[in-house]
Amino acid sequence: MELNEKIPNNVSLSSNRRLQRALEHWQPRYLDWWREMGPDGFQDHHQIYLRTAISADAKGWAHFDYVQLPEYRWGIFLAAPVEERTIGFGDFLGKPVWQDVPGEFRNSLRRLIVTQGDTEPASVEQQRELGKICPSLYDLRNLFQVNVEEGRHLWAMVYLLHSHFGRDGREEAEALLERRSGNEDTPRILGAFNEPITNWLDFFMFTFFTDRDGKYQLLALAESGFDPLARTTKFMLTEEAHHMFVGETGVMRVVERAAQLLKEMGGLSEDVRKHGAIDLPTVQKYLNFWFSVSLDLFGGEISSNAAAYFANGLKGRDYEEKRAEHTALDQFYPMDVCEEGKFTKQNVPMRNAMNEVLRDGYIEDCQRGVDRWNKKLAEYGIDYQLTLPSRRFHRAIGIYADMPFDPSGRLISKDEWDKKKSDWVPSRADGEYVQSLMAQPVYQAGKMANWLAAPARGINGQPVEFEYVRTDA
Ligand SMILES: [Fe+2]
Ligand SMILES: [Fe+2]
Repeated sequence: MELNEKIPNNVSLSSNRRLQRALEHWQPRYLDWWREMGPDGFQDHHQIYLRTAISADAKGWAHFDYVQLPEYRWGIFLAAPVEERTIGFGDFLGKPVWQDVPGEFRNSLRRLIVTQGDTEPASVEQQRELGKICPSLYDLRNLFQVNVEEGRHLWAMVYLLHSHFGRDGREEAEALLERRSGNEDTPRILGAFNEPITNWLDFFMFTFFTDRDGKYQLLALAESGFDPLARTTKFMLTEEAHHMFVGETGVMRVVERAAQLLKEMGGLSEDVRKHGAIDLPTVQKYLNFWFSVSLDLFGGEISSNAAAYFANGLKGRDYEEKRAEHTALDQFYPMDVCEEGKFTKQNVPMRNAMNEVLRDGYIEDCQRGVDRWNKKLAEYGIDYQLTLPSRRFHRAIGIYADMPFDPSGRLISKDEWDKKKSDWVPSRADGEYVQSLMAQPVYQAGKMANWLAAPARGINGQPVEFEYVRTDA
C-alpha cells in the first residue's frame, strides 16, 4: 500500500517510474478539470464529511473524515488478484487470464475502457450545480461523495489506459478531460450522460437508474479475461453500491413525503403540490424518463460487437459464475422484433443478444427497488403503484428506437404519442414545478426541505443532524 504517495495506490506505482511520471503529469490536468467542472461553489470554503478509499480490503477499505473537495485523495486501487484465475466465458474459457492486453483485442479493450471512463467525469459535470439547491446537508454530503468517487473511477480507467495502451492510452486519458457533458461539439460518448440533471429528483433517479447501469457494466467487465480490468472494476463496484443507495433512498424519501401528505389530507384525490411536495404521477414521469434513457446505455438488442466481446473473453455477463453454461453457443434468445408495425418473435443467437441479457438482469434489479417504494406507499395506506414502463418505451437505441410505444409497450400512432407524451415523461411545466421547490437550498444541520422525508439514519453511524458539510470560517 502506498498511501502517502502523491497518488495513493495499491499497485506499487513507485516501482514503475515511467507510469508514475505519466500519471503525475495527468494529475494536475485532472485537478484543473475538477475545479472547472466539479461541484460549483464548493471547492475552497467547505469541509465535507467524506469516505476515502484507502485499500481494497473488504473489511476496512474506507476512511471517513472532513475533506476540502480538491484535497480529496483520489487513488488507484485494484481488488486483490485471484491466484490462477482463468477466463470464465467465451472462446477462451478455462485459459489463464491476461495480465497484458492481447494485441488482437487492443482496440476493443481500449474502446470498452474509454466508454466506461467517459461516463465517470460526465456525471460529475451533470451534477455540478446541485449543491446550490440541496435539500439538506446530509444530501449535500452524499452528492459530493458520489462526485468524488466518480472522479476516482475516472482515475481507475485512466490508470489502465496509461499502463497498458501506450501513446494512444495517454491521448485517450487527455480526451476524457476534454469532452463535456451536453456540449454540442464535444459531448460525452453516451446519451444519458449528456442529459441535464437540473434538480434533485433527476439526481435521485439518475443515481438509481443510471448508476445501476454502471453497476451492470462493471459486473460484466469484472468478468473480463483482461485481469487488470477485472480487478479494477471489481473494486469500483464496492463504491458504486453507495451511489445506488443514494438513489433508492432518495426516491423513497420523495415518495414517503408525498405519502405522508396524502395520508394527512385524506387520500389520493388530494393534490400534494398544494403543500409543496412532489406528487406521485410526477415521480412516475421522472422514473419513466430515467429508466428509458438508462436502458439505452446497454446498446442494441442485437449486436455483433457484444457477441465479439463475449466470444473474446473481454466482457462477460453479470454473475457469470452462477450460470450453468459459459460459451453461449447453440443457444438462442427469443426476441420481440417490431417490423413495419408488426411484432415477430425472432430467435437471436445468444452471443448477439448479450446486451439484452445484461439488460434483463438490470431490469430485475430495478424492479426490486420499485417494489420497495411501493411497499412504502402501502405502509401509508396509499393505493398507488409506481411501475417500470415497458423496455420499448421512449427508446433512442436498438430495435425499438424512435417508435411510439406507450408505457405498457403497445405501439401507438405518432399523433397519440404527441398528445400523451406529457403524461408519460416530465413536461416543461413539471420541470419548472420541481425546480421551484428547490429554489431555496437547506444548509442548516438536521433540517430537511419540505418536499422530502428525513432519512432513516445518518452516514457512518453519525446522526441525521450531524454537520455533514461545514463552512470554513
Ligand atoms: Fe462510477
Ligand atoms: Fe456511480
